[in-house]
Amino acid sequence: MSDHLIPQEINSANSTITVLGLGHIGLPTALGLADLGWKVIGADDDAKKVGLIRSGDPIFFEPGLSELLTKHLQSGKFQPVDDVEAAVRAASIIFICVGTPQKASGQADLAQVEAVARVVARNLNGYKLIVEKSTVPAITAQWLKRTIVRYNAGKSLGAPGGSAPGSPAPLEFDIASNPEFLREGRAVEDFFHPDRIVCGVDSERARKILTDLYTPLGRPIVITDTSTAELIKHAANAFLSTKISFINMVSDLCEKVGADVTAVTRGIGLDSRIGPQFLDAGVGYGGYCFPKDLRAFIHLAEEHGVNFSLLQEVEAINQRRVDIFIRKVHETLWTLRGKTLGILGLAFKAGTDDIREAVSLKIIQALLDEGSILRLYDPQAMPNTQAVFPPSTDRLTYCSSAYEAAQGAQGLLLVTEWDEFRQLDLTRVREVMEVPILVDGRNLFDPATVRKAGFEYVSMGRDKARGVATKAHTPKPTA
Ligand code: UGA
Repeated sequence: MSDHLIPQEINSANSTITVLGLGHIGLPTALGLADLGWKVIGADDDAKKVGLIRSGDPIFFEPGLSELLTKHLQSGKFQPVDDVEAAVRAASIIFICVGTPQKASGQADLAQVEAVARVVARNLNGYKLIVEKSTVPAITAQWLKRTIVRYNAGKSLGAPGGSAPGSPAPLEFDIASNPEFLREGRAVEDFFHPDRIVCGVDSERARKILTDLYTPLGRPIVITDTSTAELIKHAANAFLSTKISFINMVSDLCEKVGADVTAVTRGIGLDSRIGPQFLDAGVGYGGYCFPKDLRAFIHLAEEHGVNFSLLQEVEAINQRRVDIFIRKVHETLWTLRGKTLGILGLAFKAGTDDIREAVSLKIIQALLDEGSILRLYDPQAMPNTQAVFPPSTDRLTYCSSAYEAAQGAQGLLLVTEWDEFRQLDLTRVREVMEVPILVDGRNLFDPATVRKAGFEYVSMGRDKARGVATKAHTPKPTA
């Protein structure tokens, strides 16, 4: 199609972008776009959240986000509002960044996405490009389009070349899918330096707007149709989860045969067809995205009669990781009742205060059930964790440092791979512990260094199994 379909140019000089939903994806996206020179309205119907953001508080921890927020509140390029309808009317490009939680069935709950479509339908006062950024199952864009038409009473979709005289005014909008690949803890960096940008479009006009918008980043842009773009997002998260579960199984096997999983990762990761990333064995993946997106992808496959049992196994392997870790703790410390254990790391990964589907929560619960006394520390995630596990004087103490968590402990469990833990003075840690045992669920430390510092050290897939859990562990007697 040619440029004559673009009656009014949409660019950063004359257009407003509205980002709907100011969460972990919406806020970094809004501020990134503001930094690219766009006038951005960040809309969220949670007035309290908007008030905090307006005062310069990004609400959650994300490196670099606070600085970017201050910068663009001051520059006037970013305006947080709680009037979603007005924000939609003001914009020619709308990014949907609302939540897509999961239902009990594993299916994505798209109620918030549909609600946005209705708001857009009521407020369609000129051409708008509506861009899905939230992770949604394939064909959601088609539903969005249908919903906007349905709820825009009295108007109809315009046929190319204009509508017939006397017929309702044509609706002017396009739907695009532009999935986000932002990682929590690196969202700002990922916005400006993405590996690729995927734009699913069904019109030339939408293609041109998104290409112009992202060209300044100088990164590869993959143009597809909307359903393909939606599928790319789910496939990417499912593939990364598969890599993690794969290496976790290799890790278990390493323990049986006395191999070292970190060396295996290096050995296979240097093969450019495999790559070294997302091959860190440990306690398994958590967070708001992988567990939920994997289930939604499995559900989508089932809905369409495709047997994607591979992904069911990926999920099952991941769910077993906590049991495997707790078994390791048992094998190392023997009984757990009444023992004081320090826990280093609560966030689902380093660099964030997010504890949604964090492995730490399951570990804490399992250890409390065992009767252990816990001393917890995380550089960022303690306030969120306290809301789930309130402190209790005799069972659960939140500490102000890793050293405090180790104080008097008979075992230290590392659950999140914060850099801060890498820098610990191990001699000091050993001196404050009652028994210097370290169980490293993330293979953060070099075994020789920790053992030299006087610890009994156990990690994931790097030590031959101790032979107390299953018969398979028991070495055969030599003749
Ligand atoms: C993930 C994807 O990496 C992003 O590309 C995507 O945009 C995002 O989901 C999303 O869908 O919004 P995120 O959930 O922030 O990002 O975290 P990851 O860095 O992917 O880690 C996920 C989990 O896997 C964490 O619990 C992490 O500790 C674990 N992990 C990661 C491992 O256990 N081993 C690894 O080798 C890598």
